[in-house]
Amino acid sequence: MTRKLGKGRLVAATHNKGKVRELKDLFEPAGLEVVSAIELGLPEPEETEQTFAGNALIKARAAAEATGQPALSDDSGLEVTALGGMPGVHTAIWAGEPRDFYKAMEKVENLLREIDAKDRSARFVSTLAVVWPDGHEEVFEGEVHGTLVWPPRGEKGFGFDPVFVADGETETFGEMDPAKKHAMSHRADAFRKLKAALL
Ligand code: IMP
Repeated sequence: MTRKLGKGRLVAATHNKGKVRELKDLFEPAGLEVVSAIELGLPEPEETEQTFAGNALIKARAAAEATGQPALSDDSGLEVTALGGMPGVHTAIWAGEPRDFYKAMEKVENLLREIDAKDRSARFVSTLAVVWPDGHEEVFEGEVHGTLVWPPRGEKGFGFDPVFVADGETETFGEMDPAKKHAMSHRADAFRKLKAALL
């Protein structure tokens, strides 16, 4: 049975500052205190699964176990239609170490040029997992469809935001006011489903 999330502390099991900001924007108005894995000094577990849900659960389970509190994680990525859904679950890895998202965006652009892709459609996917310390788990998936542009535009977002224009919009997510992006993003879509079920 679905379990409700009470008001109180929720550990955001992510080391991505852009995601932490977006998760705080989404959950704090609902009365939850969001504390990130960065603030708590938690280790970053290795993402070894081949699905967004599998990797989201790895991160939330590790944080719930380490803190004894309910933990929330987001595993997300960009799926490019003409590249058969790549980079997908490997989106973060495409930026290399240390993470360089300009390089990752350029890699996608170069692959699209190599195959002379006419179809520049893509979607962002976000899977939110909530894990309680007693092992109860809930998972929700959200998406936003759009088109990839080149060159990158805007510095307000993170990751692939500067090359992504959501359907019906003209600004990239990197140019868009963060509140507007946070209302239409893949994470917001997953959050709406989570909110309906758990809050
Ligand atoms: P992971 O979920 O930590 O494995 O990483 C997902 C990667 O997908 C991020 O590092 C970003 O590159 C990309 N990504 C996920 N969500 C967004 C978003 O809202 N904007 C831009 N890039 C994103």
